[in-house]
Amino acid sequence: LQLGIMASGNGSNFEAVAQAIKDGQLNAQIQVLIYNNPDAYAAVRASNWNIPAVLLNHRDYSSRQEFDRQIVQTLRQYNVDWVIMAGWMRLVTEVLIDAFTNKIINIHPSLLPSFKGSRAVEQALASGVKIAGCTVHLVSLEMDSGPILMQAAVPVLQGDTPETLHARIQVQEHRILPQAIALAAKQAL
Ligand code: GRF
Repeated sequence: LQLGIMASGNGSNFEAVAQAIKDGQLNAQIQVLIYNNPDAYAAVRASNWNIPAVLLNHRDYSSRQEFDRQIVQTLRQYNVDWVIMAGWMRLVTEVLIDAFTNKIINIHPSLLPSFKGSRAVEQALASGVKIAGCTVHLVSLEMDSGPILMQAAVPVLQGDTPETLHARIQVQEHRILPQAIALAAKQAL
C-alpha cells in the first residue's frame, strides 16, 4: 500500500501509522504527508521519519475544489493509492472523493454516527454518554460519514475534561487506524 496522509495538526495518528509500518504490523509505505497548516507539528514528525511533507495552505486557493485539485495532483505525483485523513480539519469535495473512489480513510474521535464535526469530544462529554470512542471509516462526500471499518470504545470517567477523554480515545485511535487501513485494503481486493 502506498499511503498519502493528510493532517492539520499534531500528527500523532501519522506517527502511529509510521510506527506500525516500522514494526511490521502494516505492510505499507507513507509516500507523502500533506498538511494545510504551516504550524502543524505533523510536519516535524514527517521530517523526523524522513517522509516528504508538502504544505498546501487552503488560504492560497479560491475554492475548496481548486484546493482539492492541488491535493489530488500532489497525491498522484507521489504515487499514492490510499489516502488517510488523520486529523484533516477541512471539508473535502467531489474532486478528491472521485479521484480516489473508496480509497480515502478518515479517523474521527467519536462512535459515529454520534457527534460528527470538529467538537466531537466536547459534545460527547456534554451529552453525558458513559461510553465514547473513535471510528475509522471510508470517506464519502458528507462530513464524517461513509462505511465504517473499525470502532473502539472507551469509558467516560468521572471528572473527565475534553483533554483527558481525548487522550484516552487517542490511545485507541493509534491502535485501530493501522489495523483499519490493512482491513480496508484487504476488503478492496
Ligand atoms: C484525532 O482525534 C482524530 O480522530 C481527529 O483529529 C485528531 C487528530 O489527532 N480527526 P492527531 O493530529 O493525529 O494527533
